[in-house]
Amino acid sequence: MIEVAGVSFSYPGLESPVLHDINLEIRPGEFLALLGRNGSGKSTFTRLLNGLLVPAAGDVIVDGYNTRDSSHRLRIRQQVGLLFSNPDNQLVAGIVEEDVAFGPENLGLPAAEIRERVRWALSVVGMEEYLKYPPHMLSGGQKQRVAIAGVLALGPSYMVLDEPTSMLDPRGREEVVRTLTKLNLEQGTAIIMVTHFVEEAAAADRVVVLDRGRVLVTGSPLEVLTRIDDLADWGLEAPEIALLCHELRKRGYSHFPMALDSRQVVDTIKQFPFKD
Ligand SMILES: Nc1ncnc2c1ncn2[C@@H]1O[C@H](COP(=O)(O)OP(=O)(O)O)[C@@H](O)[C@H]1O
Ligand SMILES: [Mg+2]
Repeated sequence: MIEVAGVSFSYPGLESPVLHDINLEIRPGEFLALLGRNGSGKSTFTRLLNGLLVPAAGDVIVDGYNTRDSSHRLRIRQQVGLLFSNPDNQLVAGIVEEDVAFGPENLGLPAAEIRERVRWALSVVGMEEYLKYPPHMLSGGQKQRVAIAGVLALGPSYMVLDEPTSMLDPRGREEVVRTLTKLNLEQGTAIIMVTHFVEEAAAADRVVVLDRGRVLVTGSPLEVLTRIDDLADWGLEAPEIALLCHELRKRGYSHFPMALDSRQVVDTIKQFPFKD
């Protein structure tokens, strides 16, 4: 578990804190989506989770280890993988397999185990056929999946991704979210994903909304992402499918169930008693 307890943070030179008294428990194996308008403190929060930044007040405790304690820093960095938006900045080697091997090599693992981890990580992200490819030949979504494999090869229990889809086209975005969902379900890796695509947050178990450095709300995607009026106040765009349900409710179908899944909405509509 990652325990974030009473955490505040400010950058040197800034007058007011960027994060105020954040309390959150991230459970092993959960998929958490973090939303919030620009400047709300999401990126800062992600960097506190693996000890890249240390809180001004409060504690971040990863599986029992406090990020303040520098003797645990390496262990924490290995447990909590961090991945950013731009895959080009994260791919360092000339071919995919070397890239994914980079982390495990730095851990000083034996060659056979490195090879094994590279193959395993690439198969989890569905990129095993691209072992010998140069990364620049890949699409954005493929590059980001290789970058995910590179983090995965370190064997983290938690993977923190700061807007991993923001530089990708719709297809790449879908590939990455599908890969993360699979990683979460099949490997049990906890996913903490920042996104400004509210639709992507629907894939999560739990949604957290930050605003001006505070946690405004946490809940299931259905609970949070269907609060149409609140989403606008929080600087977030409502998912289109939730907007559709909302409009139907306003226009006479007051019991129409809110949903985030378009198939569910279609099934509900099919049961309407339409007249010819
Ligand atoms: N390295 C930094 N130095 C000073 N201020 C920063 C730094 N990084 C971010 N900030 C400020 O902290 C606030 C939160 O930023 P950030 O965590 O990047 O938010 P988000 O990811 O939600 O857009 C913003 O006001 C931003 O300008
Ligand atoms: Mg950010």
